[in-house]
Amino acid sequence: MKRVAILISGGGSNMVALVNSMTGDHPARPVLVASNDPRASGLEKACAAGIATAAVDHRPFQGDRAAFETALIAHIEAAEPDILCLAGFMRVLTPGFVARFQGRMLNIHPSLLPKYPGLHTHQRALDAGDPEAGCTVHEVTAVLDDGPLLGQARVPVLAGDTSETLAARVLREEHRLYPAVLRRYAGGDHSPVFFGS
Ligand code: GRF
Repeated sequence: MKRVAILISGGGSNMVALVNSMTGDHPARPVLVASNDPRASGLEKACAAGIATAAVDHRPFQGDRAAFETALIAHIEAAEPDILCLAGFMRVLTPGFVARFQGRMLNIHPSLLPKYPGLHTHQRALDAGDPEAGCTVHEVTAVLDDGPLLGQARVPVLAGDTSETLAARVLREEHRLYPAVLRRYAGGDHSPVFFGS
């Protein structure tokens, strides 16, 4: 049984979808939900689901990313995860952190990578007049929002869409895609999952 730690920064809706999927014959189980924000509402949801939680507030570290990560890693290693899932985790990781978990660390990003790495992905897709948008699950490497593709889900951009309506449509697909990718990945199959639009 693979042990999965999930890192969040906010509401953790992707974390909830992942946790709810790890049941029955699923080859993985959640062992920790950790956040860089002690007030992340996702921590309460994880606690309610009976999952161990940890929080290391990144702000006191005042930009010393390595020191913050050292504190966070202590909690992560204590849970002895086989796989790390970044799920709405909004801190840029140092190459040192990535090197420690590379090859067993996944992230979900709300665009059809390689399009629109970084922030404001939905507005950028709208501004570009893209007919489609979506989300991508990838292995995390030292390059932000890059790395081997593990899954992609496409949604149509509809007339009158705002970044909010598009984000909501993509988020629903995130909650389908990430669990499907994790189940396959934890089972040892790292081939990509594709959901069309
Ligand atoms: C989602 O759009 C996800 O793609 C991005 O963070 C947003 C919030 O995720 N990484 P969650 O609701 O906290 O899981």
